[in-house]
Amino acid sequence: MAKRVGLLTAGGDSPGLNAVLRGIGKAAIEHFGMEVMGFRDGFRGLMEDRTLELDEPTLSGILTVGGTILGTSRDKPHRMPVGGRVLDMTDLIVKNYQKHDLDVLVCLGGGGTQKNAHRLMRKGLNIITLPKTIDNDIGLTDTSLGFDTALTIATEAIDRLHSTAHSHHRVIVVETMGHKAGWLALGAGLASGADVILIPEIPYDVRKVSQAILARSRLGKRFSIVAVAEGAVPKPGTDIYAGDKKKRQAKPAGSRARRGEPEMGAIQVGHAMRLAQELEILTGLESRVTILGYLQRGGTPSAGDRLLATRLGTACAAFIREGIHGVMVAARGEGTRPVPLGDVAGKRKTVPRNHPWIQSARLVGTSLGD
Ligand code: F6P
Repeated sequence: MAKRVGLLTAGGDSPGLNAVLRGIGKAAIEHFGMEVMGFRDGFRGLMEDRTLELDEPTLSGILTVGGTILGTSRDKPHRMPVGGRVLDMTDLIVKNYQKHDLDVLVCLGGGGTQKNAHRLMRKGLNIITLPKTIDNDIGLTDTSLGFDTALTIATEAIDRLHSTAHSHHRVIVVETMGHKAGWLALGAGLASGADVILIPEIPYDVRKVSQAILARSRLGKRFSIVAVAEGAVPKPGTDIYAGDKKKRQAKPAGSRARRGEPEMGAIQVGHAMRLAQELEILTGLESRVTILGYLQRGGTPSAGDRLLATRLGTACAAFIREGIHGVMVAARGEGTRPVPLGDVAGKRKTVPRNHPWIQSARLVGTSLGD
């Protein structure tokens, strides 16, 4: 009997998702003679039994297409919005998995998806996951699908901001995504020569940042680029408005990290704007803000992500053929490694303070706000 494989994409979309669906599907169908079906919109489609047959014609021509042909959502099996209520729909998901007589369910997603997939594994489903997120914050894998493309997009954007900052003698604060990890801000900031890089892992002192900017000014470089991760936070007690009620602005919403833990995707306003305001006050230089947002998740995947997607996808098909499940297909060096899903779920990979990228940034004179 041909093995039957279910696929779903969950969480934030990223470039490379369709490339990995293609990698899994073509290897499984054409090389290993398996049957493959997709569920639409993440775990919600599995609960509602909304499917898409993934045959060769459907998988053809999607290697370079952004987003996911299956659609995605952030809905969780055990906390599914249904008819205005939030219900545990795990049992219906298990029933649909059995109804389709699946040998394995492959879930492509970020940290939240790894946890949700692990819950389904504990309910007896055969699960394999692949690491997908532009944040690069999934543990036990060298990297994740989408990160290379987002890094390229953010780097090219920051490159472009240099010329306008230089022309107008301005401070440009550019905010990257990354949730609570600083990989995107650090990588793109280093690659584009940002003068300041602020990441969640190193709480910053805005006075230290302004001193770095003023030091550049004294050398005749009357502009600076500040790359700030959306999850970056100020060091406690460094608020420049402390004690001076007159100067206190209406407190902006701030980033997700500073507001506690609203649902992923909550609108984050104010973090970069507030930082720019503070820097304009402290340095006397005009400051402007660019929030890269969803540009970092858009469009065709980079060559690196296409290679990663095909590597992980075909390895996933090979693991299925060997009857391996209960694992994440991790990127390791030039190859892949099946890592127990229980070891991955709930583990966020943040930037170690002694990471080589941080050492390099300091050695080229970048301020990290500390
Ligand atoms: O996890 C990927 C990501 O793009 C984060 O970097 C960002 O904070 C979040 O998703 C945005 O969530 P949503 O797409 O639900 O608005």
